[in-house]
Amino acid sequence: MLDDAEAMMQAVELAAGVRGTTAPNPWVGCVIESVDGEIFTGATQPPGGMHAEAMALAAAGDRARGGTMWVTLEPCSHHGRTPPCADAALAAGLRRVVVAMEDPDPRVSGAGLDRLRSAGVEVEVGLGADEVGAQLAPYVKHRLTARPWVVLKLAASIDGRTAAPDGSSQWITGGAARADGHRLRAESDAIVVGAGTVRADDPSLTVRHVPGTDPLRVVLGTAAPEARVQPALEFQGEISDLLDQLGERGVIQVLVEGGASVAGQFHRAGLVDQYVVYLAPAIFGGDDARGLMSGPAAPTIADIWRGTFTAITPMGGDLRIDLVTVESDNPRGHPGLGRAAAAADAEPDTGSVPIATVGLTIPEEES
Ligand SMILES: NC(=O)c1ccc[n+]([C@@H]2O[C@H](COP(=O)([O-])OP(=O)(O)OC[C@H]3O[C@@H](n4cnc5c(N)ncnc54)[C@H](OP(=O)(O)O)[C@@H]3O)[C@@H](O)[C@H]2O)c1
Repeated sequence: MLDDAEAMMQAVELAAGVRGTTAPNPWVGCVIESVDGEIFTGATQPPGGMHAEAMALAAAGDRARGGTMWVTLEPCSHHGRTPPCADAALAAGLRRVVVAMEDPDPRVSGAGLDRLRSAGVEVEVGLGADEVGAQLAPYVKHRLTARPWVVLKLAASIDGRTAAPDGSSQWITGGAARADGHRLRAESDAIVVGAGTVRADDPSLTVRHVPGTDPLRVVLGTAAPEARVQPALEFQGEISDLLDQLGERGVIQVLVEGGASVAGQFHRAGLVDQYVVYLAPAIFGGDDARGLMSGPAAPTIADIWRGTFTAITPMGGDLRIDLVTVESDNPRGHPGLGRAAAAADAEPDTGSVPIATVGLTIPEEES
């Protein structure tokens, strides 16, 4: 028979496998064990398709009766594009349901658990809550604030420079870091760059070298009709309004890829949830190369932004450094962000992050 923790971690892995394909829905994993010890699994399908629980229940059929379900997020209780999963679990006759996290979506928010409990199903909540809280932090933020989770990605030399005085910046980092950047694109629903980057680099901003679908491409300012980034959404105005609009479109995670002016705007506005900096063992060696951010800096040392490293990962010959804002500076304080900040309190992880990039060959081509 499956151990509870082992089963929940399998569900977490199933959810990770469909990250970036489910928005506006959360990425959820589900494992069912029958009374005979048979295992059935499911993960959220693209919008309009089956939820994780429905997939696992369909695979199990009659064998779900009397069995146990482990699922990363509370089964839904409302009719969306698909029928409620809590009802399907009841109809299947499950005896026990183990849930990592209550769904923050106001249409669910405990109602799915209540439905199961009131029908006599044994319900447990909280196993794997830290892992799932971190995994679903973007979804939690989206449901509670109606804005996407913002990841700011930058690639810099060890002296903190991102482009040479002539504007060239391809490539500061090596193939493994660039492949990882494509993985970040694949798990995001939208990607934002400034018109300056479009003019300098003519990037296509598609997902390559890793499996995944292309995110919605957004240019701050305008892009020429023949630019490789087209078709793109062109936006002019306040970036907080852009986040409202993307949230309304069901974008759960947005990746901001720069350049320095756009990075500075997002940072100074306090709109970044997670910073990902790829650092190369290279030095521009002067102050006329572009920095990570342009615009007015903190006027004095007492005003500088301070974050916490959540992971430092060797990546080919480069480093990937993940940072989040420290919790005391984070006024939003909802559960997903709280967990991200709690993870930040842990010792920095130096080398254990399992990002499988070794051996990947990246041809030198467009960004
Ligand atoms: N190393 C890295 O990680 C990295 C990543 C990306 C880019 N880069 C490099 O960075 C350089 C480009 O950076 P950059 O700072 O010059 O340009 P940028 O940040 O890419 O774009 C700035 C431009 O975007 C437009 N814009 C920004 N915010 C806007 C808003 N809220 N509403 C409307 N338009 C808005 C404006 O365009 P208009 O000027 O048209 O008004 C602005 O001048 C390039 O050399 C590129 O190679 C490096």
